Amino acid sequence: MQALLAASSTGVSDSAENISFPATFAFGTATSAYQIEGGWQEGGRGLSIWDAFAHAPGKVKTGETGDVAADHYHRWRSDVQLMAQMRLRYYRFSISWSRVLPNGYGAVNEEGVRFYSMLIDELIAHGIHPVVTLYHWDLPLVLQVEHDGWLSEATASAFVQYAAFCFARFGDRVKHWITLNEPAVHAVYGHARGEHAPGRRSRPNREPYVAGHHMLLAHAYTVARYRKEFATKQAGLISIALNSDWREPASESAADVLAAQRSMEFNLGWFADPLYTGDYPPSMRSRLGTRLPTFTAEQRGYIANSTDFFALQHYASMLVSARPESEPLPEGSFYADEAARYHSLPGARKNVLGWDVAPFGIYRLVKWVQRRYRPTGGIVITENGFPLREESAEEARYDLERICYLKQYLVQLARAMQEGVVVRGYFVWTLLDNFEWAEGTAARFGLLHVDFATQRRSAKGSAAFFARLSETHSFRYHAAECNATVPVNAAFSQEAMQLQLIINRTAELRAQSGRSTSASVRSAIMARASRLVTLADMQARHTAENGLFRATRSWLAKAAKMRTFDAAAADKAFGEPSTAAAEPLRRAAQDLEEEVRQIENELAGSLAGGGEIGVGEAEMAVAPMIGEDEELPGVVPGVVPAEEDATREFGRLQTAVIEVL
Ligand code: NOJ
Repeated sequence: MQALLAASSTGVSDSAENISFPATFAFGTATSAYQIEGGWQEGGRGLSIWDAFAHAPGKVKTGETGDVAADHYHRWRSDVQLMAQMRLRYYRFSISWSRVLPNGYGAVNEEGVRFYSMLIDELIAHGIHPVVTLYHWDLPLVLQVEHDGWLSEATASAFVQYAAFCFARFGDRVKHWITLNEPAVHAVYGHARGEHAPGRRSRPNREPYVAGHHMLLAHAYTVARYRKEFATKQAGLISIALNSDWREPASESAADVLAAQRSMEFNLGWFADPLYTGDYPPSMRSRLGTRLPTFTAEQRGYIANSTDFFALQHYASMLVSARPESEPLPEGSFYADEAARYHSLPGARKNVLGWDVAPFGIYRLVKWVQRRYRPTGGIVITENGFPLREESAEEARYDLERICYLKQYLVQLARAMQEGVVVRGYFVWTLLDNFEWAEGTAARFGLLHVDFATQRRSAKGSAAFFARLSETHSFRYHAAECNATVPVNAAFSQEAMQLQLIINRTAELRAQSGRSTSASVRSAIMARASRLVTLADMQARHTAENGLFRATRSWLAKAAKMRTFDAAAADKAFGEPSTAAAEPLRRAAQDLEEEVRQIENELAGSLAGGGEIGVGEAEMAVAPMIGEDEELPGVVPGVVPAEEDATREFGRLQTAVIEVL
């Protein structure tokens, strides 16, 4: 079950790589009922909390609802055909609870059952495995109104009955089940921030934990029921889909490292720890006290080991630093509890929703999951994808940014697999453009473009990419095609050695003659110094892109140091050649013979001509390398430093070059 990752072990190199996955690896796409189906009042469907929420003015930014969405309720047959054309083998979709049980429990809507039954049959007829999510945030409205939704254990009981009903009616054909989708997002956005249904926000420090607790119990009891009554006969697997951004410490300080870990625990550990250990993370328990509900011993027995694989969803990453207790968030903010501050990631692009794109994040995340939980059944990435604002089908055809996102995240996933993380599948969010919750249809994540006026589907470039991947289980990746950085540290070392060599050589000649260097030699030196600045900046960007922030800081420091390099000061001070790094320099000298000979000739010419070059001229040579308003530390422009200061200054500059080698 190992991905074969050719070429570099970092997953990034300047030549094309062949990235391949095992033949058994599952590639698929994912959707959810409310986001694609529409048909909100058809076929006997009951209302859900999202119908009520989206119809309330101001809740969805674009004023849209999911009444029609991508009209999949009417177009499911042709949508399955499109999947077949894309050679997809797995498709994750969700069942609308209120389409099957309009009140959440009790009376069955057979027309709704028939809809899903036909969809499942059609998928299987096209060789596509259905992966079914039982709950993707669209709670039957009756359960919210009559029972306070997830704030009450009654909803958990109703869910278990609904799930058992689905196992009984569809489980003969469905072999992969997801109980609930992203309970953390549902708990926080729906019960603290009020930005998703059911739109609650009056008790942000209590309700999310209560709702989350009941969702966990719903999952645990459902799995117990499935294992007891259905799993053996139906030979299926079951899990719950958990989401997590990767949270990288903002610095190496113990406080920030702890804060990042705490933030992982408060977001992913909140749901994952109970699934593997039977209880919430100790960090949550100690910070939240009685606000965090408790499991009875019996419940712990149900919840521990209640997944057959780890269903993980991931989109973005962030930096996390410690938030001092003395600096609380606005009264009642849910985020105050984890005492962490979030920051943008240096070097990361933002997607149209403002999330930081950082492919290394998926690598670190799966490693974290593997190390902490060692999940039986391995990890399946049940969602990962990239939103764009694509105004037309034509524009969407060239969604290179999305292809690059998918490729770069898959490169990092393959890298983790090569290092022993067990990953068994990857599902792109999403098959087709749809209703992106509070964003409406403005943020498009689909592989297929949907014109919402005509409901016409058109393939984007990413659909072609994913179709091929799904068939061949491999792709070629070249950093340049994605405008990604490549490592330049070797080029930097080479340049730095050459610069040192030239400085030493000119210093020797200067010492012999007592004369100054020519303007052209000085500008050659400055050009090299400037190239070193560029290379150090490039390497800083490259390390940042790969999440190597300690290296980033060191490369930025090298760049800053090289920016202070000044030929005018150097010229005044040429004297003692440096002998450090002598051996590598001797080797570099062989490659540099031609250049040094030229420099010597020029220098000989300048010495023969006699006379020192004035400060004005030297400054002209220096000018292009230095920002106009920038003052050089230790050297005031236009002022000739006193002789001994200059000597000291040049010693410092020489050391600077050696240090950055
Ligand atoms: C996760 C959710 O499961 C899905 O419904 C949503 O559309 C995507 N993230 C993108 O935000």
